[in-house]
Amino acid sequence: MSVTDLRDLPASTPFPSGALPDGWSKGVFRTEAFPEEPVLEVRDLCRSFPAGGPGGAAVLANDRVSLTVGPGEVVALLGPNGAGKSTFLRQVAGQLCPTRGSIRVAGVDMVASPREAKEALSVIPQEGTPYGGCTVREFVRMFARLKGVENTEVSLLVSGILDGLSLRREADTLIRNLSGGYKRRVMMAAAMAGRHPRLMLLDEPTTGLDPTSRRSVWEVIQRLRDRGLGILLTTHYLEEAETLADRVVILLGGRVLADGTVSEVRRRFPVGGRLEVRGLDGLSTVARREAMGLVKGWPVISRSSSWMRLQLTDPFAPEAVGLARSLTALGALATLGTPSLEDVYLDLVGDPEALV
Ligand SMILES: Nc1ncnc2c1ncn2[C@@H]1O[C@H](COP(=O)(O)OP(=O)(O)O)[C@@H](O)[C@H]1O
Ligand SMILES: [Mg+2]
Repeated sequence: MSVTDLRDLPASTPFPSGALPDGWSKGVFRTEAFPEEPVLEVRDLCRSFPAGGPGGAAVLANDRVSLTVGPGEVVALLGPNGAGKSTFLRQVAGQLCPTRGSIRVAGVDMVASPREAKEALSVIPQEGTPYGGCTVREFVRMFARLKGVENTEVSLLVSGILDGLSLRREADTLIRNLSGGYKRRVMMAAAMAGRHPRLMLLDEPTTGLDPTSRRSVWEVIQRLRDRGLGILLTTHYLEEAETLADRVVILLGGRVLADGTVSEVRRRFPVGGRLEVRGLDGLSTVARREAMGLVKGWPVISRSSSWMRLQLTDPFAPEAVGLARSLTALGALATLGTPSLEDVYLDLVGDPEALV
């Protein structure tokens, strides 16, 4: 069988089955025809933690969370720090026992049959970095062995994964010599080195990466999605969710506030237009006072010392455009627009400082 260089295929190209390297067709990505059933089905998941000290209250970190991920679907779990995202992922990964509710991974109950359920899982922890003292190939091989791949199949499988994630050129490079983005790719390659991965869990996959490395991780996520893997990730970057996610789920205080495609979530909260004014702290006292006078009477959604967001019924109405012009003339940075995912998120979640 001829092996096509997967790097020559655009990320969105579905795999012609004849072009699959053996390593990938033997169970890594057996998804030429996507099976219909969800790769993850979570129903009414609850997880509480006992009170930290005397007089402290128990924390309900997940409160009746239900969520489904289909094959070939990317779902982004959003929410401020402490919303319960990692707790959710740890339960799905079988690292933490639910207080109540059910988790099925590729149809297998995680609580009743954790070993079998974990066979379908590929988990990348929040702060994991690969061991630097071995080569990329050695590292991924080690994972394949640990995950029970037959000795005779390891080499082919690992080559297929390295090709598929564009790591072939780096295969014999020591991991410590790779950039942050490539190290993250190696973690993803290692996580894929199981027998039947169907669902990948990524906790903040691009936190701390520079923009180029971030895009390189996005590309890998898109490739895996196009090959039929279900992907559940958490992120603080709403742009990341907008770019990657087929669906977003917003958590706050352990509960689901919104669940849908980006445009569904935007539509579900019809919030009209927005005027965002930045750079207020850089204005002179006189200009700042004048700016405050101009915005007086317009409904303020949120503000800090340096910026504010105003609610508009129509961002293209002449009064709104005039206001934006006058503020810009004073030296502020005024932007008019319809709500982005970030606007909806901030409306729902509130405190923008909680984003970071
Ligand atoms: N092992 C633990 N023991 C006690 N409380 C915990 C533990 N893990 C998480 N929590 C609490 O559960 C809540 C959700 O945390 P987490 O799932 O880490 O949120 P996120 O990942 O969204 O930032 C927080 O209030 C956190 O303090
Ligand atoms: Mg977390």
